[in-house]
Amino acid sequence: MRLNMRAGEKGILILIGVIVVTLMGYRTFKLVVDEPDPGIPFYTTASHDVKRTAELIYKRNGCDACHALWLVRNMMSSVPAPALDGIGSLRDEAWFYEYLSAEQPQSILPSRLKKEFQMPSYAHLPAQERRLLASYMASLKVEDWYLHETKKAEHEKLTGKPYTAAVSDGSTSKK
Ligand code: HEC
Repeated sequence: MRLNMRAGEKGILILIGVIVVTLMGYRTFKLVVDEPDPGIPFYTTASHDVKRTAELIYKRNGCDACHALWLVRNMMSSVPAPALDGIGSLRDEAWFYEYLSAEQPQSILPSRLKKEFQMPSYAHLPAQERRLLASYMASLKVEDWYLHETKKAEHEKLTGKPYTAAVSDGSTSKK
């Protein structure tokens, strides 16, 4: 009888334990979820149609074999190609068009990679497709705060000094 009581008490204790842990878990969960979330800093200004068509051309030409876009990188890829997220905050449409049209992209953007990993020429694509890709690339933006954080981290890594150049830096200015 006494033993039974103990078993019962134990059961109740375990039950209370489970409830407490669940509540604590829920509170932690709430805390995490309620934190202001800066979110993914990348976005596109392209219309739905341009995005869809450009991404078809992008896939068809195997760009995704080397580049990451929307934080997605091909698991099979070992090419150290730059991610294209936010690239339109760094370069403009005319630049992308010229780059995609170049017989020798490395004459515009030098490469230290082995030939097989380098950016291939897309000069053979119909001009309309190069134009659409260029326009889509230019629409791939990154939020200013993220660009700033990235530049800051980069600067501090390279120089070991705090970053104070925010004012003199005109590259993120709005058009
Ligand atoms: C074989 C791998 C490969 C493929 C396929 C590829 N790229 Fe690239 N791309 C690169 C590499 C590597 C670079 C960096 C320059 C270099 O090393 O030649 C680059 C550079 C770029 C840049 C300039 C990035 C910057 O930092 O300014 C853009 C834009 C770009 N690629 C877009 C594309 C698009 C669009 C396609 C498909 C039509 C494509 N790439 C296909 C490897 C590739």
